[in-house]
Amino acid sequence: MYERKEITQQELDGQRLYCEKIRDAIAARPHFAMVDTYGCQQNESDSEILRGWLLDCGYSLTDDPAQADMIAVNTCAVREHAELRVFGNVGALNHAKAKNPELIVAVGGCMTQQETVKNRIRDSFRVVDLVFGPHEVWKFPELLWKTMERRGRRGNKSRLIAAEPSQGVVAEGLPRQRDGSIKAWLSIMNGCDNFCTYCIVPYVRGRERSRRPEDILAEARQLVAAGYKDITVLGQNVNSYGKGLDSGVDFPELLRAIDAIRGDFVLRFMTSHPKDATEKLFRVMAESEKCAHHIHLPLQSGSDRILKAMNRHYDRAKYLETVKLARQYMPDLVLTTDIIVGFPGETEADFSDTLALVEEVGYDAMFTFIYSPRTGTPAASMPDPASRAEKQVRFDRLVETANRISAEKHAAYVGKTYRVLVDGETNDPQHNLSARTKGGRLVHLIGDPALIGRFAEAEITDSSTWALFGKTV
Ligand code: 5AD
Ligand code: SF4
Repeated sequence: MYERKEITQQELDGQRLYCEKIRDAIAARPHFAMVDTYGCQQNESDSEILRGWLLDCGYSLTDDPAQADMIAVNTCAVREHAELRVFGNVGALNHAKAKNPELIVAVGGCMTQQETVKNRIRDSFRVVDLVFGPHEVWKFPELLWKTMERRGRRGNKSRLIAAEPSQGVVAEGLPRQRDGSIKAWLSIMNGCDNFCTYCIVPYVRGRERSRRPEDILAEARQLVAAGYKDITVLGQNVNSYGKGLDSGVDFPELLRAIDAIRGDFVLRFMTSHPKDATEKLFRVMAESEKCAHHIHLPLQSGSDRILKAMNRHYDRAKYLETVKLARQYMPDLVLTTDIIVGFPGETEADFSDTLALVEEVGYDAMFTFIYSPRTGTPAASMPDPASRAEKQVRFDRLVETANRISAEKHAAYVGKTYRVLVDGETNDPQHNLSARTKGGRLVHLIGDPALIGRFAEAEITDSSTWALFGKTV
């Protein structure tokens, strides 16, 4: 089933009318809104749209919940830990609401697309006035206005519980208040069709659908013209970009077209599913002018048995072959990954396979997670005999290995000079500036704050597990 619902200009104009109604309704005094974001870059990107809408609705933005008249919480459902934090923090908003009974609390994001969560909020979180899903961000003004209209009614009628199932929404032309003026997200697609057995994303974000290449390129050109220096192309699996469109443009071609935009910027992308990372992609990356030689290539597990149970469609040999090919094209490739420890049925032998593969590949950085059962996913009903304590021991061993390898990789930068993008100041008294190499490694620098937002040459003088240290030259 291929779902795609493109939002029309008329539908968008309709939302603008709701913005005007809200503007009028709150015009008597300044109103403040806050957006609290959990989870991945896609959520950060969606929060930028929420902030754009809120500004259009007449709110000023704040980071202070005590000052806010409207709080939108953009949630993540990937692991239980994030969900528990959200429940805790939303519950704590009772205090803010007791002080300001007019406060509107909206909960959106991936958590709300799960029926169990929706019901729990309805039944146990009276503080929440509006529940909306990630597919409904495009019509946030309408939902907010309808929530305002319901005020004063009794019981559940005073609240709006939306978060309807995905309809494959693709929306262009939404307002967006970007975070910062140096780095920008460029979302090219939404949803996922892979159904890795541990993952909730395909259920909450719906089927994969891609934006049209001309819309993406127009946004990329705007970003470059506005002076953004670091553009990260986003999608759950960017390598399958274009599926279902008749444009014939695949991901490497899209990357090549963005790379061709005139200007001085770094082009990054995430995430790549190893099964779809092709030689064509590596060739385009190697030939490109602006593309970072960095791939985030989630391994998840180094055991063939577990990879099969995860429905990942590759094995160790295929993964290693992909890495080898990528490094042939880009000898300076920075490689990062995600690994899940303690997937149901993972044995000590399976885990040893993961450790061995991690050593063999040598990642620059790793994001490591303990498996978290997600209701409704196939893995949640697989037998899982290993105890939490055993998983924790494995996790600690993996982190130790990851840290050692990162430190070794970083040490190899020392004594060399790299072109870096200076992106801000640090709290580090010895190195006042923060910067990134083209490969995405964090650098703490001594240098002139006037360099923020610019490229500079940095000599690396020292390194740690987490960062490189140096000075501008
Ligand atoms: N438990 C633990 N980690 C998970 N991830 C996705 N689902 C789960 C889960 N149920 C991890 C994967 C993915 C990253 C974004 O989050 O490693 O690549
Ligand atoms: Fe989840 Fe797998 Fe899709 Fe990534 S590729 S979002 S891990 S289902």
